[in-house]
Amino acid sequence: MSNTIPKRDHFSSKFGVIAAVAGSAVGLGNIWRFPYVAGENGGGAFLLIYLAFIALIGVSVMLSEFVIGRSAQRNALGSFKKLAPGTPWFLVGSMGIVAAFVILSFYSTVAGWTMEYVVSSLLNRFQEKDPSQVNQMFEQFIAHSWRPVFWQILFMFLTGWIVWAGVKKGIERYTKLLMPLLLFIIIILGIRSVTLPGAMEGLHFLFYPDFSQLTGNSILQALGQAFFSLSVGMGALITYGSYIRKSENLGTSAFQISFADAIIAILAGVAIFPAVFAFGIEPGSGPGLVFVTLPNIFGQMPGGYFFGILFFILLTVAALTSSISVLEVVVAYMSEELNLSRHKATLLATGAITLLGLLCTISWGMGKEWTLMEMTVFDMMDSLSANILLPLGGLLIVIFTGWTLKSQVVKQEISNNGALKAPLFQIYYFIVKFIAPLAIAIVFLDNIGLLNV
Ligand code: PHE
Repeated sequence: MSNTIPKRDHFSSKFGVIAAVAGSAVGLGNIWRFPYVAGENGGGAFLLIYLAFIALIGVSVMLSEFVIGRSAQRNALGSFKKLAPGTPWFLVGSMGIVAAFVILSFYSTVAGWTMEYVVSSLLNRFQEKDPSQVNQMFEQFIAHSWRPVFWQILFMFLTGWIVWAGVKKGIERYTKLLMPLLLFIIIILGIRSVTLPGAMEGLHFLFYPDFSQLTGNSILQALGQAFFSLSVGMGALITYGSYIRKSENLGTSAFQISFADAIIAILAGVAIFPAVFAFGIEPGSGPGLVFVTLPNIFGQMPGGYFFGILFFILLTVAALTSSISVLEVVVAYMSEELNLSRHKATLLATGAITLLGLLCTISWGMGKEWTLMEMTVFDMMDSLSANILLPLGGLLIVIFTGWTLKSQVVKQEISNNGALKAPLFQIYYFIVKFIAPLAIAIVFLDNIGLLNV
């Protein structure tokens, strides 16, 4: 079955790989999720640990996913079957498919909110509103009976449509152009934000590490956010890795993309937190944070009307280039392992995920009461993916790469069969074999109270 796979599509240029993987990494994770989770976990100390996790573990998990995908030339589940036939390792791939459903269900809710904000900006709805009115508008909107649902369905439709179009034509084309523009706007926003009266408090919050704010749970959250932001731990980059040409330098790509991803999260923090303090917003106010903060900044800058529109359009695009990488995990699996056509697979997966997603969206309105351990459906999906599925997936991926794959195979893949020097290979391999598995395991065990550190 999976031996008769037709020739695979590959990204066509160096820029194509970087653009597609960076497109996957940069998204709502950096601009929506990072500020809200950092805000809930005390700011500076969280940022520091988050960056340490990216540098120490995230880059290596990313590279390991590339290695697995490119050497196997299969989807996230098929790759494990091919590299470790007859073993239970394929379950890591199955977990990735579950994670894809979970992530996209709430991701599409937030992407839908972003699309509503494109329209609100266009209609100038934020004009002359004070921070409490901006907040009220947001709360009314997310609890509305059909508007957030409409946007979510539209977002899922767009995601499905791009994936339907296939790898080269679909994914690469949409990622190349718009990211530099997004970066530019975030920088402009940051400049406006830090020049607001009272902005210093926000910078202090973001950059001054106060370790007394950290709990075992915030350390797990920092790890989860690092993985979420880099798109690692669920096989999205195994799947994309399988589309990367054999001549590309995997190590350099992983390093550059992780670096860019972290910078964008920091810049988002620089745009958000000064404004949070300047406008008297609570930093720990949760998933609505950027939606109740940004419109106030746009309201107070020259050209704010146009910047606002452009920003929310670009954020929607950034969300799309991430969501397609999540959907691609499911579609590549269904078409290669279950022998469905790509089109049928896309329809089925998009439809099923949209249904699950509706639960997340309405959990801000009429589904508010459906809670478990004080978490709504949205909260549950958000926390299940970032705090459990991705770290666990990442743990298993590094163990697989460090202990199950032969070191020669890994080395060959990273050095392109000896064509590249790969000077940092030993360091990478040491991290993958020892440091990363231990660190992730300790963070987990500490969090469930099994360690007293
Ligand atoms: N990294 C994406 C973002 O920051 C989200 C994502 C998570 C994508 C996991 C793929 C896999 O928005």
